[in-house]
Amino acid sequence: MNYLDAPELYLKGEVDPGNITWRSPSNIALIKYWGKYGQQLPQNPSLSFTLDQAFTETTLQYRLKPEPSNEISLNFTLEGAANPKFEARIKSYLTSITGAMPFLKQLELDFRSHNSFPHSVGIASSASGFSALALCLCSLEHALFGTLDDDEKFRQKASYLARLGSGSACRSINARLALWGKTGLVTGASNEYAIPIQEGIHPVFFTYHDAILIVHAEEKAVSSSTGHQLMEQHPFATVRYEEARRNLHRILEAMRRKEWDDFGRICEMEAMQLHALMMCSNPSYILMNPSTLKIINLVREFRRTTQHPVYFTLDAGPNLHLLYPDECAHEVENFIHSVLVTYCEQGKWIKDRVGQGPQQL
Ligand code: PMV
Repeated sequence: MNYLDAPELYLKGEVDPGNITWRSPSNIALIKYWGKYGQQLPQNPSLSFTLDQAFTETTLQYRLKPEPSNEISLNFTLEGAANPKFEARIKSYLTSITGAMPFLKQLELDFRSHNSFPHSVGIASSASGFSALALCLCSLEHALFGTLDDDEKFRQKASYLARLGSGSACRSINARLALWGKTGLVTGASNEYAIPIQEGIHPVFFTYHDAILIVHAEEKAVSSSTGHQLMEQHPFATVRYEEARRNLHRILEAMRRKEWDDFGRICEMEAMQLHALMMCSNPSYILMNPSTLKIINLVREFRRTTQHPVYFTLDAGPNLHLLYPDECAHEVENFIHSVLVTYCEQGKWIKDRVGQGPQQL
C-alpha cells in the first residue's frame, strides 16, 4: 500500500473551519520492536497490549490559509502551554507526509494535546501522541474529501501514518492486542501498519491488568531512536531478530492455550533481551536502575511464594509494567501498596489495564 503519493487530496474550493478530537492510548510491547530499516520499518514483528488509562487527547482545529504557501502552518500546545520542542518535531513530521496529504499545506493547523498521565512520570507519550495525531489527520482527510468511509481502511491509514511519526505508535490504533510487522504466523500482518489480533486468543488476556511502577520519572538519557540506530552495527542483531520471531510464535501459542506462566516468562525474556542489547551496544548504556532490579527480584520472589502469575516487562526505560490477570489483581495490588511502592519515585504507580483502543470525542 502506498499512501505517500496522493496528489488528488488537494483542496480546490472553500473549506469551512472545523475541529476534530481523538483520544488515543499508549501501548506496552510484549514482543519488542528494537531495530528498524528504511522508512521506519521494523526488523522483526512486535506484539503489544493497548492500554486504557494512559492516553493522549488531541484536538485539531483547522481553517483555510488566507494566502497559499508551501510551508506547514502549525500551532501546537501540550497541557495548554506552548512546547517548541514537540512543535518542531510535529512540523517536520507533517512536512514529511505532505505527499500523502497535500492539503495540509493549504490549511492553518492548531493542535492541542493533553496526556492523562503527568508529563513527569517518564511514560513515553510518543505512542499515544502520534496515534492521536494520525487519527485526527485521517478524520480531517475524511471530512474534506470523504475518502475514508470504511473503518478498516481508516484504521490502516491512521496506523500507517502513526508509524511514520513513531514506530510503536502504529500499534495503539488497535483495541486490546496489536501486531506490527510481517510474519507468516498471522494473515494480513504488515511492516507498514499494525493489525488487531483477536481470533484464537484466550479471552482472559483481554482482561489483563498492567500496573506501571514509576521508578524514575525523568526523560531517559538515551532516546529510542539512538537505540534503534545502535542495532544497525550490533553484534547480536541477527540473533535478536530471529529470537523475536521465535518468541512471537511462542507467545501466541501460550495466549491461545491460556498458559499464562509461559506467556509471562516470554514477556520477561523480551524485556531482559531489550535491556541486554542496550548494555552491549557500542557505546553501551544502561536504562535500568537499582530500584528496577530490586522490584524484579521482589516480583519473582512474590510469584514463587504465592504462585500468582504476575510477570514484568520493561520498555526503553527503568519503569516496570506488571502484567497479571483479574483473578489475582487484589493480591498483586496489595503487594504493590505494601511493598513495591517503597521503590517507586514518590510512591507513584499507575493502575492500567488492556483497553478498547482509540475513541473519537
Ligand atoms: O516507537 P519507538 O521508536 O519509540 O520505539 C519503541 C521501542 C520499545 O518501546 C522499547 C519497544 C516497543 O516495541 O514498543
